[in-house]
Amino acid sequence: MSEHSSTAGERILLENITKKYPGQSAAAVDDITIEFPAGEIVMLVGPSGCGKTTTMKMINRLIEPTSGRILIGDEDVTDTNPDELRRRIGYVIQGAGLFPHFTVGDNIALVPRMLKWDKQRVSDRVDELLDLVGLEPGEYRDRYPRELSGGQQQRIGVARALAADPPVLLMDEPFGAVDPITRQRLQDELLRLQEELQKTIVFVTHDFDEALKLGDRIAILETGSQIVQYDTPEQILAHPANEFVEGFVGAGAALKQLSLTRVREIDLHEAAVAHVGDDPDEAIAAAEAIDREHVIVLDRFDRPQRWMSLRELRRDGSLTNVRRDLNLETVSLASTLNDALDEMLTSSHGVVVVTGRRNSYQGVVRVETVMGAMQQLQQPPTEAAT
Ligand SMILES: Nc1ncnc2c1ncn2[C@@H]1O[C@H](COP(=O)(O)OP(=O)(O)O)[C@@H](O)[C@H]1O
Ligand SMILES: [Mg+2]
Repeated sequence: MSEHSSTAGERILLENITKKYPGQSAAAVDDITIEFPAGEIVMLVGPSGCGKTTTMKMINRLIEPTSGRILIGDEDVTDTNPDELRRRIGYVIQGAGLFPHFTVGDNIALVPRMLKWDKQRVSDRVDELLDLVGLEPGEYRDRYPRELSGGQQQRIGVARALAADPPVLLMDEPFGAVDPITRQRLQDELLRLQEELQKTIVFVTHDFDEALKLGDRIAILETGSQIVQYDTPEQILAHPANEFVEGFVGAGAALKQLSLTRVREIDLHEAAVAHVGDDPDEAIAAAEAIDREHVIVLDRFDRPQRWMSLRELRRDGSLTNVRRDLNLETVSLASTLNDALDEMLTSSHGVVVVTGRRNSYQGVVRVETVMGAMQQLQQPPTEAAT
């Protein structure tokens, strides 16, 4: 098989784009200027009616702007023939928008046939795209959309948008109509595809979690497609521009930030440690010396067995027959701070034990450490040395 190389993304620039629908006093899109960098996924997030769809449709000229101009690459496409333009821009909408009386193959072949590709090239391309979106060509090529699940139809929608290998993909709430599990899978597939294809993708969603997961950048819009904030997911979480963005980011923002940080990136806390077989009095003295109420007991391979309070140690007075606490939860160095916090909240200690290779003890994470890390993340960014 020959190596297929695809057309890489081109930047899109909207300059002072306005759309006023006839008979309406307020502009649906009011003077938006924004650049979508080549090869990136930009997420447009905002409340219903704020002008997301109108903005998207002006890029592929399904709607004519009232004023302003649009560049793709360095070319002003404001006056390009709309049919020609749409071949350079894939468009995916909710529910896939497949033609029900066309087979899957014919749906995908739509644009290549308009471009008058020869038969063999069209059929090769259809099979290649089915393969790309994870559907066996022989099995799906001749089916009709109604014979497919919602998730499969959505994959066909993506395949169709990619058919003529456009540098730009516009996706307007494409995964809005599928169940959460399918949705997650489609999101993962899109990320995988994008690694390979490097298109410029503008993706509308009203789901902030989807925006965080997929976006290289997120533009948060208010009525009239006013840009409230345009930044990376990390920056938006750490520094929401105003209360409107905070509302979108939601109460879970801190937790989302925590899920971007790994346990190995923070300084672990030192617990009082004892080994099976140690002298309990020495263990108690060592714990008291660093002001701890509990010790974590390790086996001879340094694997955590259980927490013991100093009270228990004084009462039982032995570290010889320590049984492993089957409920002892640990996290690894690769776990996220969010995982660590989860474990803490279900344990009664406010700490969670961290293990490394072969489950060996590394230290503990305390609630205070997580809170501290969170505050650090929310400091204004400092100049990074390069
Ligand atoms: N064809 C149209 N004619 C008149 N008004 C429209 C039309 N399409 C959308 N609108 C209005 O423009 C505004 C933006 O709509 P839209 O771009 O669909 O928003 P979103 O996709 O963010 O929900 C809304 O107030 C909507 O009612
Ligand atoms: Mg819309």
